Amino acid sequence: MSVESTYNRYAAFYDFIYGSVLQDGRKKLARLISKEPGRHLLEIGVGSGLMLPLYPDHLSITGVDISNQMLAKARKRAGLLRNKTITLHHVDGENGGFPDESFDHVVLPYVYSVTPDPDHLIAESFRVCKSGGNIWILNHFSGFGTVWDYVGLIVKSFPDSVGFRSDFSYEDYVVSKGWQVEEIHKANVLGLSRIIKVRKPLAA
Ligand SMILES: C[S@@+](CC[C@H](N)C(=O)[O-])C[C@H]1O[C@@H](n2cnc3c(N)ncnc32)[C@H](O)[C@@H]1O
Repeated sequence: MSVESTYNRYAAFYDFIYGSVLQDGRKKLARLISKEPGRHLLEIGVGSGLMLPLYPDHLSITGVDISNQMLAKARKRAGLLRNKTITLHHVDGENGGFPDESFDHVVLPYVYSVTPDPDHLIAESFRVCKSGGNIWILNHFSGFGTVWDYVGLIVKSFPDSVGFRSDFSYEDYVVSKGWQVEEIHKANVLGLSRIIKVRKPLAA
């Protein structure tokens, strides 16, 4: 089953399962973004739109998702947020079709370990982010001595069936990339998630 159909199935009960349990991370991420300059933000994997109410009102927000059922929930939520500028698209964030250097912030909340090809998603995030802009990753990672170091051994790690990869190593998916990581913050109960701020270098 594809990631798209998995999340189409999840849509009806996603907020109930993953709403409050992951909300601490969303709130912290929005607070960190609010301290940074730049008006144009892209959220890839906007899901049911749980981040949308948390972003500061001055931002121009573009949200994309591969699942139209999740996006339908986000549209409903966005419709209630009259103070905010929000545009939503049903597209694959690995191939969003936005021009180069379009956004000051590219935000990936709980999607890096979900998307079919994480490296492709990151390459696309760098492409559409302005030089000097930020790529924000909020995700669980194994390698921090948390429960994620063991879950991957027990649960088979398939984003298609479970909805995410459980064995998602910080070493492989962050450290080895050689990015300009500016900040790392713990989030969620027992520090199960990390917020990582990566700076896209200024053009030479
Ligand atoms: C775990 S949910 C996270 C949703 C939301 N960001 C949140 O904080 O609750 C992952 C979402 O990413 C979407 N997704 C996965 N891969 C994607 C891709 N390549 N492009 C766009 N959306 C994607 C899924 O459809 C799903 O809605």
